[in-house]
Amino acid sequence: MKTLIYAHRGASGSYPENTLKAFEQAAKAGADGIEFDVQLTKDDVPVVIHDRTVNRTTNGQGPVCQYMANELKQLNAAAKQTYQKQESIPFLSELLDWAASYPSLHLNLEIKGYGQPHERVIDAILPLIHDNRFKERLVVSSFDHMLLAKLQAHLPFIETAALVKGPLFKATSYLKQLGAKGYHLDSMYVSKELIEEMKQANIAVRAFTVNDTTTLKKLFSWGCPAVFTDFPTRALHLREEFM
Ligand code: G3P
Ligand code: MG
Repeated sequence: MKTLIYAHRGASGSYPENTLKAFEQAAKAGADGIEFDVQLTKDDVPVVIHDRTVNRTTNGQGPVCQYMANELKQLNAAAKQTYQKQESIPFLSELLDWAASYPSLHLNLEIKGYGQPHERVIDAILPLIHDNRFKERLVVSSFDHMLLAKLQAHLPFIETAALVKGPLFKATSYLKQLGAKGYHLDSMYVSKELIEEMKQANIAVRAFTVNDTTTLKKLFSWGCPAVFTDFPTRALHLREEFM
């Protein structure tokens, strides 16, 4: 089974993370999918940025949730890199519109709750995905499993994946109960046995964040369903050599 390669926050090893530039580069390089992080602005607009604050990746300061969407748009999401051009923080709506031009690209929307009320988060994201236009290629993941369960109650067709900090106790029964079809965990916890066990249960193990050659090769040899990497071109070359 071919391991799918998801560009983690886009081609974030070479371009500013979670920007349209990083996603475009990943898609052009031939990545099978992209992973991106979503949270809400003060006025409940879902935006694509990883950290709770804008400090690390932009020229701004402070929590994302204290910015209005139009204020956030003024920030440079490429400010902390040697990258010369200015990039904005994408709205989720912009990213999904862009993804329409890559109909075979897999999408992993990771919801970063950061304590924002579940109903607010769901109400903001739901209108963007409720039409099922990304059927078969969208997976919604989160470390907040309660949020996933509530989202799925609203949208039963949505594929969800549980993100975990460490391996789950009685993972199969937990994931089945949650209704998750994916199990996203740090590559250090992934084994051949786990991949097999999950396959039997129709659950896809996807390993993050894998940038080193040895681990990539190991996961390819085990038939891991997918990996997240900051360097999709490197992973694609390795996979080609491997197949
Ligand atoms: O979704 C996989 C991975 O992105 C989870 O961790 O912190 O990079 O969002 P993080
Ligand atoms: Mg993420």
